[in-house]
Amino acid sequence: MSRTEDDTWDLATSVGTTATMVAAARAIATRDGAIDDPFAEPLVRAVGVDFLTRWASGDLSGSDVDAGEGGWGLAQMPAAMAARTRYFDEFFADAAAAGIRQAVILASGLDARAYRLQWPADMTVYEIDQPAVIEFKSTTLAGLGAEPTAERRAVAVDLRDDWPAALEAAGFDASQPSAWIAEGLYGYLPPEAQDRLLDAVTTLSSPGSRLGSEAVPNTAAFDSEEMRERMQQSTAKWREHGFDLDFSDLTFVGERNDVAEYLAARGWSSVATPMDELLQTHGFDAIPKADDDDDAPTMSGVTYITSTRN
Ligand SMILES: C[S@@+](CC[C@H](N)C(=O)[O-])C[C@H]1O[C@@H](n2cnc3c(N)ncnc32)[C@H](O)[C@@H]1O
Repeated sequence: MSRTEDDTWDLATSVGTTATMVAAARAIATRDGAIDDPFAEPLVRAVGVDFLTRWASGDLSGSDVDAGEGGWGLAQMPAAMAARTRYFDEFFADAAAAGIRQAVILASGLDARAYRLQWPADMTVYEIDQPAVIEFKSTTLAGLGAEPTAERRAVAVDLRDDWPAALEAAGFDASQPSAWIAEGLYGYLPPEAQDRLLDAVTTLSSPGSRLGSEAVPNTAAFDSEEMRERMQQSTAKWREHGFDLDFSDLTFVGERNDVAEYLAARGWSSVATPMDELLQTHGFDAIPKADDDDDAPTMSGVTYITSTRN
């Protein structure tokens, strides 16, 4: 089913499923020793999407259910998610070391950083996601006996609505510097909603604030029907195994502003790291190109950007 302007979901439906999927990849990366997210596997199990539980627990191998070697596949995801987890973990550690005491995790999904990172004692971590997602994670982690390692404030609101008001109502202080992350979010926002989100973050960010982004490529140059078919092909085998996730129904393609350029015009300076460089830095293999088309967008088209408000 395609997206609508005010659609909602939980962790087993629509966009929410992608949060469970990346958490499953973190569960595998944790078992491999690449990262340490002890909450990933129990959270995925609790959501109860059978295919993802089997993948997270090692009963199902990504390479057995991927359609081909390259493009979008489960096989590459644990390494990619491990590298991205380390990137944003380091981002928050650097921000805390620089004296920032407000963290905001936009589209927090099953991100357990508020429970697993070593934060300064006076740190407040805000998490924003849709109500059903926030409620599920809070309840499940409480049930597991997990305690936040910072003052955690969950803000249940859609990022297409007036989330700045909800964040400030939860105690966020725009006069103090803050550290934000948008990890695995932009592709699920229409391009103009990405701009609005960056505008709102800019308004709420005092000088010295930082924003860590996972930026998705501008796909305007690609044939959207062909991209749709390509994505459907790469996930076709997952459907045979009972997992019906169609990224082309969930993401928005088309002309999208470059995050670093957009922010530069609004008083931020940025350092960008392409996915392949990040993988290499952390000792992981590059993501193979799609089998039949070297130019087709893949996970390796993603860029990690750290921006600082001047
Ligand atoms: C791929 S998951 C990433 C979750 C988390 N950042 C991580 O890396 O584990 C995408 C997340 O974006 C959230 N999301 C997407 N669009 C949203 C919106 N309009 N409002 C609130 N949350 C949204 C989803 O609920 C989901 O948790």
